[in-house]
Amino acid sequence: MYESEKAWQDVDAYFVDTLVPEDDALQQARLSGRQTTMPRAEVAANQGKLLALLCQIAGAQRVLEFGTLAGYSTIWLARAVGTQGHVTTLELEPGNAAIATENFHRAGVADRVTVITGPATESAERLIADGAAPYDFVFIDADKPSNPAYLKASMALTGPGSVIVIDNVVRNGAVTDPASPDERVRGVRAVLADIAEDERLEATALQTVGSKGWDGFTVIRRVR
Ligand code: DHB
Ligand code: MG
Repeated sequence: MYESEKAWQDVDAYFVDTLVPEDDALQQARLSGRQTTMPRAEVAANQGKLLALLCQIAGAQRVLEFGTLAGYSTIWLARAVGTQGHVTTLELEPGNAAIATENFHRAGVADRVTVITGPATESAERLIADGAAPYDFVFIDADKPSNPAYLKASMALTGPGSVIVIDNVVRNGAVTDPASPDERVRGVRAVLADIAEDERLEATALQTVGSKGWDGFTVIRRVR
């Protein structure tokens, strides 16, 4: 716990109260996250709203998400794309997927969300093999060691102009350690190196403090 963590949480609570009201379905989705294999890993409400705004700014209709858990961020994305849009979300654990599906019904977005259960790399490979139409927006928020594989799959599933966001790239500052033995940190560093090397991608990364402690995310635009 950082000394200023309470202040970070208070400011997040203030912003969320002021700008980002959660309806019952979002609150229930957040609460049900405690029953998943990764309790409290869902994005903060103000980050969920940012994902929604980015989708809308980008005019995204087709969204791909790596890592569903209880579907909290999925609901933000599904509401952002509207009734004509679609979100495909990939989840390893059938139990998590079942919780998420219930949440999609409660949120009124079940008809525009497809949950694919199983290892996300395999699910994405199947989408590629099936010739899935390009996605406009990708949110990568699953197991961190697989980040490079998820970006690679995303490149096969998007086209120029698409936006890719990767969550959790700071991890309490651990990301700066090139010798970190933590496979999650290694997965983040590897994907950032891949992004930097790829001439098709323009990217930045931002640190966040708030209800989820000290972390951050990367925003990428595929330019060609
Ligand atoms: C972890 C994963 C997340 O997606 C997140 O938002 C926070 C933490 C984790 O792997 O610990
Ligand atoms: Mg995350």
